[in-house]
Amino acid sequence: MSNDTRDVAFIGLGVMGYHMAGHLAKAGHRVTVYNRTGAKADKWVSEFGGKTAGTPRAAAQGAGIVFACVGNDDDLRGITTGDDGAFHGMTDGCVFVDNTTASAEVARELDAVARAQGCHFIDAPVSGGEAGAVNGVLTVMCGGDPAAFDGVKDVIDAFARAVTLMGPAGSGQLTKMVNQICIAGLVQALSEGVNFAQKVGLDGNRVLEVISKGAAQSWQMENRGTTMVKDEFEFGFAVDWMRKDLGICLAEGNRAGARLPVTALVDQFYAEVQAMGGGRWDTSSLMRLLTTP
Ligand SMILES: NC(=O)c1ccc[n+]([C@@H]2O[C@H](COP(=O)([O-])OP(=O)(O)OC[C@H]3O[C@@H](n4cnc5c(N)ncnc54)[C@H](OP(=O)(O)O)[C@@H]3O)[C@@H](O)[C@H]2O)c1
Repeated sequence: MSNDTRDVAFIGLGVMGYHMAGHLAKAGHRVTVYNRTGAKADKWVSEFGGKTAGTPRAAAQGAGIVFACVGNDDDLRGITTGDDGAFHGMTDGCVFVDNTTASAEVARELDAVARAQGCHFIDAPVSGGEAGAVNGVLTVMCGGDPAAFDGVKDVIDAFARAVTLMGPAGSGQLTKMVNQICIAGLVQALSEGVNFAQKVGLDGNRVLEVISKGAAQSWQMENRGTTMVKDEFEFGFAVDWMRKDLGICLAEGNRAGARLPVTALVDQFYAEVQAMGGGRWDTSSLMRLLTTP
C-alpha cells in the first residue's frame, strides 16, 4: 500500500466529476475511478487511461488521495462509510477530498470518522459550473486540517484556478452556502430586470450590453443574460441541484440564527419551476415564472 499522492481515486463521474478526474489524469496522476453506473467509468478509462474499480472501497485501496463528487449528504455517506465505502479501503495518512456540495454537518461527521482511523477529510465544494470543470478553472473552497490541506492543494490545482482553506471541517461547505445565497437573490433580480426590459419594449440584448458595463454587472448577467432573452434553459446548473443547495443554506441559517428571507422566497420560486417540469433546467429559468401567462 502507498500513500503517494500520485495515486488517486475519483468517485462519481457525473457532469462535474468526469472532467475533474480527467484533469487529474492529464496532470500525470495514476487515477482509479469508481462510478455507480459502470458504463461511465469504462468510457472515462477509454478516454483518459487509468483503471476502474468495482466499489468505492476498492478504488480507495492504495490511494494517497480519494476524491468524490456525488449528489448530496446521503450519497456521500453511502460512498464513504456505507457498505464497501471508500473509508473501509483507506490506509493511514490518506486524505479524502470531497467536492460534493453537501452540509457542513456531514463534513464534520466524516472528518471525525476519518481522524479516528488515522486519515483526513477535506470538504472542498466547487463553483464554476460544467464549463469550469471542463476547462479546469473551478474555485474550490476547503475546510479541514491545515497540514492535510497543504498536502493536497497542488493536486486539486489540476482542475482549479483558486483553492483556498477557509477554516476547520465544514468551512468549505459554509463558504459554498454563502455563494449560493448570493446567487439566488441575484438570479431573481436579473430575471425581473430582463422581463421588465422586454415588457416595456426595450431590446433585451442591447440593455444587457449597456448595463453589464455598469454597476449591475455580474457573472449571471454575462453568462446567462442572452439565453434568458432567448428563453433557453435546457443546459447549465439544474434547478433540482439548486433546491438541494438552498435547503442546506436554509437549515444552516436556521441553526445559526441568520435570517434568509429572500433566499427562502427564491427557494419557493424554484419549487414552482420544478412543478412546471423544469427540475433539470438551468437556474436562470426563474425567468419562466414571469414570462409564462
Ligand atoms: N453541475 C454543476 O454545474 C455543479 C456546479 C457546482 C457544484 N455542483 C455539485 O457537484 C455535485 C455533483 O454534481 P453533478 O452535476 O456532477 O451531478 P451528476 O451529473 O448528477 O453526477 C452525480 C454523480 O454522483 C453519482 N452518485 C449519485 N448518487 C450516488 C450514490 N448514492 N452512490 C454512488 N454514486 C452516486 C452519480 O452516479 P451515476 O452516474 O450512477 O448516476 C454521478 O456519478 C453536486 O453536489 C452538485 O450540487 C454541480
